[in-house]
Amino acid sequence: MNNFIYNIPTKVYFGENQLIHLCEELKKFGTRVLLTYGGGSIKKISLYDKIMAEMNKNGFEVFELSGIEPNPRIDSVRKGAQMCKEHNIDVLLAVGGGSTIDATKFMAAGALVDHDPWDFFNEKRATINDALPIVSILTLSATGSEMDTGGVISNPETNDKIGRLDPHLLPKVSFLDPTNTYSVNEYQTACGSVDIMSHIIEVYFNMEPDLYMLDCFMEGMLRTVVKYAPIAMREPDNYEARANLMWTSSWAINGFINGGRAKAWSCHPMEHELSAYYDITHGLGLAILTPRWMEYCLDENNVSKYVQFATNVFGVDSNQDQMSIAREGIKRLYDFFFTTLGLKNNLSEIGIGRENFAIMAKKACGKGILKGFRNLTPEDVEKIYEMCL
Ligand code: NZQ
Ligand code: ZN
Repeated sequence: MNNFIYNIPTKVYFGENQLIHLCEELKKFGTRVLLTYGGGSIKKISLYDKIMAEMNKNGFEVFELSGIEPNPRIDSVRKGAQMCKEHNIDVLLAVGGGSTIDATKFMAAGALVDHDPWDFFNEKRATINDALPIVSILTLSATGSEMDTGGVISNPETNDKIGRLDPHLLPKVSFLDPTNTYSVNEYQTACGSVDIMSHIIEVYFNMEPDLYMLDCFMEGMLRTVVKYAPIAMREPDNYEARANLMWTSSWAINGFINGGRAKAWSCHPMEHELSAYYDITHGLGLAILTPRWMEYCLDENNVSKYVQFATNVFGVDSNQDQMSIAREGIKRLYDFFFTTLGLKNNLSEIGIGRENFAIMAKKACGKGILKGFRNLTPEDVEKIYEMCL
């Protein structure tokens, strides 16, 4: 296995009523706050009122940027970066799901540079030397943005959706209260759960030798989502279910499970093209792609990993030949996404045809080949998109 660095300095307040610590944490960075949020769900659940009451009581000067879109756009980032400069902001408080937190990360970085924030993503790949401090209050369990160094931003003018990782973007403090996710509807709960599973699957399906302990950890997290996502959908205010999904979402992508694995991810680059061209929900795209990608990559050399997945995650009977076990594991995942979670199971059903497959496949492969679990050329990716129709 390869060497690795583990460094996750985000301070997490987990559980109910932890917001009493919000102001003491914000104060460490200053008193001028940019509060960012999405389309208004935080007002419906009265979280906005609670936060504002705390901050007003403690003498903070609060500026607001609302309306951050799902699949957040570069224009929102531009606006936020500009507001930070104009109002001399000390700290950004992101309240919402991955879209709000992601956009806020690049506002925080954009606030400290003179160039257009899109330069962080385009061919210039401008360096991120620093960012204003970010505090997050998570309201949807999915992306892990609350405890990771990444973010993904869309530019509708160029049909691009591009991710960027940088340690300066890691939230300093995150508040994870499962009750804030009680209002997440069935569809978003399902999509978020798929996203969590995908973050694990992207790392788990890897033939590089690594720690057995990490494989066990990943299998446990996958089983956790399989157990609790349907409960959270049936009983939205089930604390145990929401808490398990929330903490799993953070640990699925905060760097811990990576160990020394160096291979690139596969389904995420393919999905980001779907969202870039058709503005679909990230988790839905991943649900449609993941079982097809697994099917496409399966061969005699890697079958053992599929067998491990099938038996340890879905309890598939191991008294059959290896290929049958592997295929049964893919089928169980397929059934979980499309029957248990009730998601639409192909691209045609959500109005996507093959018109952009060639260009999307090329963009998904970046500079040539997607070097993941199995190397994929643009032709391979196009075939996987075809399997999703
Ligand atoms: O905008 P509001 O009104 O808040 O509504 C949102 C939005 O419509 C709603 N929602 C959020 N919390 C809610 C709620 N509705 C009711 N009650 C609540 N408590 O849910 C909708 C979706 O929100 P969004 O933030 O877009 O979802 P998610 O957290 O899944 O974020 C998706 C974005 O994150 C990126 C995705 O590509 C996508 O752009 N990702 C970020 C990653 C990262 N930072 O590491 C990794 C992921 O792989 C992913 O790519
Ligand atoms: Zn994801």
